[in-house]
Amino acid sequence: MEEDPLSALFTPAFVVDVDKAKRNAQRMIERCQKLGVQLRPHMKTHKTLECADIMTGGSQRCIVVSTLAEACFYADHGYDDILYAYSIPFDKVERCAALSERLDLFQILLDHPDALEQLRKRPLKDGRQWHVWLKLDCGNGRAGVLHSEPGALKLAEAIAKTEGVELTGVYAHCGNTYYCTGVEQIQAVAQETTKLTLQFMEKLKAVGITCKSSIGSTPTCSHPVKDMAQLSEVHPGNYVFYDVQQSTIGSCCLEDVAVRVLTRVIGHCPHRNQLLIDCGWAGISLDGAGKLPTGYAVIEGHPNLKLLSMTQEHGRVEPISGQLDYSEYPLGSLLTLIPYHSCATAVMHPVYHVHSEGRLVGKWTPTRGW
Ligand SMILES: Cc1ncc(COP(=O)(O)O)c(C=O)c1O
Repeated sequence: MEEDPLSALFTPAFVVDVDKAKRNAQRMIERCQKLGVQLRPHMKTHKTLECADIMTGGSQRCIVVSTLAEACFYADHGYDDILYAYSIPFDKVERCAALSERLDLFQILLDHPDALEQLRKRPLKDGRQWHVWLKLDCGNGRAGVLHSEPGALKLAEAIAKTEGVELTGVYAHCGNTYYCTGVEQIQAVAQETTKLTLQFMEKLKAVGITCKSSIGSTPTCSHPVKDMAQLSEVHPGNYVFYDVQQSTIGSCCLEDVAVRVLTRVIGHCPHRNQLLIDCGWAGISLDGAGKLPTGYAVIEGHPNLKLLSMTQEHGRVEPISGQLDYSEYPLGSLLTLIPYHSCATAVMHPVYHVHSEGRLVGKWTPTRGW
């Protein structure tokens, strides 16, 4: 199948334009170099070795993961300096200990004193230290101890003081940028998160603690503010693929989106003025619901088509206005969907078909599980 055209694929098929992915990755590397901040790319969007290689510029070092399955996968393939940026789940402490004892630098994250207690109860062998990031909530409203709570500083001090444990850094994720529209709003969140994180670093300094700091998301790192140069690291991930959501937020242009789902027309329904396609919610994510005039995705080259609804393996497509001309969409013809959310869509596919200028050049196999 190598070098075949995309039309040779069975559908639905997740396809990656490797040239765009490389360009997106290179731009982020250059942006961070210019800013003078360490890029620690997140692997959650693709979970593949090939894309990790592109994002790390081949160093195989300094990555973030969101599952222990990813951490093990990358460790097994020569990666090190891995940050498992997910409040450490207690059922996984032993597996984290094993990775900490095996790698030069496996790092974990926590946001509660009970998690610290779990680490204290499981000292690492050979005098090794747990490398711990404190998760701070600077307005994202998900995991993390609230930056303004006295408990945040107390927890940081407790981590720093615990024998066998090192406070490696403070980590704030700015997922609240996903509610932004436009660069100005994105940069306001970037500025606020940076300010609150740096203020927290000052509080730490005042009690004699120095460690790293990291903030980020694809929107903020696509449009960084100057003050982010004062941080140690940033940790975006989605940018290597981007998606329709990022283009509506203002992180990128639609042309930057490196991934598509190919689908075929499998039915004509003139009584409903609709087409059926072979991609349902098992092939492209539902989370574009209500966000786009074109439904759950953008149908490339067909601005008047809307992906109206999906069941597991079927999609209903209708025109935004007017009557469908079925001769334009014969059964078996291909349609190309640009996903609203590339992370959520990629995770549904066991293999990614990689192309350069429309010719298939390989397959990437992601890791799965938790
Ligand atoms: C904790 C954490 N860090 C980093 C990222 C990467 O951010 P983005 O997907 O905006 O690139 C995510 C994404 O969800 C995340 O949850």
